[in-house]
Amino acid sequence: MMTNATPQAAASPSAHTALLASEPERAAYRDYAQPGIDRVRTFYRNNHKHQTLDFVLAKKAQWLTFSQREMTPWAALEFLNTLVDESDPDIELPQISHLLQTAEAIRADGHPDWFVLTGFIHDLGKVLCLFGEPQWAVVGDTFPVGCRFSGRVVYPEYFALNADNADARYNTENGIYTPGCGLDAVHMSWGHDEYLYQLMKAHLPLPALYMIRYHSFYAWHREGQYRHLTDAQDAAHLGWVHKFNPYDLYSKSDKPPVLAELKPYYDDLMAKYLPASLKL
Ligand SMILES: [Fe+2]
Ligand SMILES: [Fe+2]
Repeated sequence: MMTNATPQAAASPSAHTALLASEPERAAYRDYAQPGIDRVRTFYRNNHKHQTLDFVLAKKAQWLTFSQREMTPWAALEFLNTLVDESDPDIELPQISHLLQTAEAIRADGHPDWFVLTGFIHDLGKVLCLFGEPQWAVVGDTFPVGCRFSGRVVYPEYFALNADNADARYNTENGIYTPGCGLDAVHMSWGHDEYLYQLMKAHLPLPALYMIRYHSFYAWHREGQYRHLTDAQDAAHLGWVHKFNPYDLYSKSDKPPVLAELKPYYDDLMAKYLPASLKL
């Protein structure tokens, strides 16, 4: 269970979202119908085909020992920076630029420092790609496994290729779960969200952990699906996931922020919350 106390509410993001795209501009994001998007379609075909319950359990056993390598948080971010996320229709930017843009937009709106730090590290789990995992097992939208796949997950037609879809143990509404069990008891499709949550759970407050763990779970936080599996703690923290989402999505632009100017601030922030070295 996640037991950290809930910190004070962040300042309202509604009035001044200085570094976010405007409402009309936002319609152009996450547009999976735009031309040249075959790369994303192929990505989700692989993702939905292979993310079975057995696959997720095997990945947890493989990666949650954190025995790959040990490095400082900065070294991990610089290591991550060589990756381009092929599931994302919106950007071709280096990862660290996306993280800086997300964090700076959160900071510009006056939110607490742990929220800014969450923005700065939320995709750090994508280092799994650099350890040799295929991108379909690291990035993209996430969904529960071990129960029926929602038709509101992106590209739901590809779940027909998933062996669990035809397995009577897993293809009912609740599958292996009991109603109201809470998301902490639910196995999500494997990726950078769960991996980073497990890496950070001793270091950040619970709202930050919800943002990290469920930021790609659009079927829940955007589409309102899987409510039958959530509990009171999930319901109480959904608002934090909502608060985080526009910074992840709409702070994206093709204008890179200047890392050298921002580094001292983020040095202090990482020193305040994170261990000096991370076991990945
Ligand atoms: Fe992400
Ligand atoms: Fe992100």
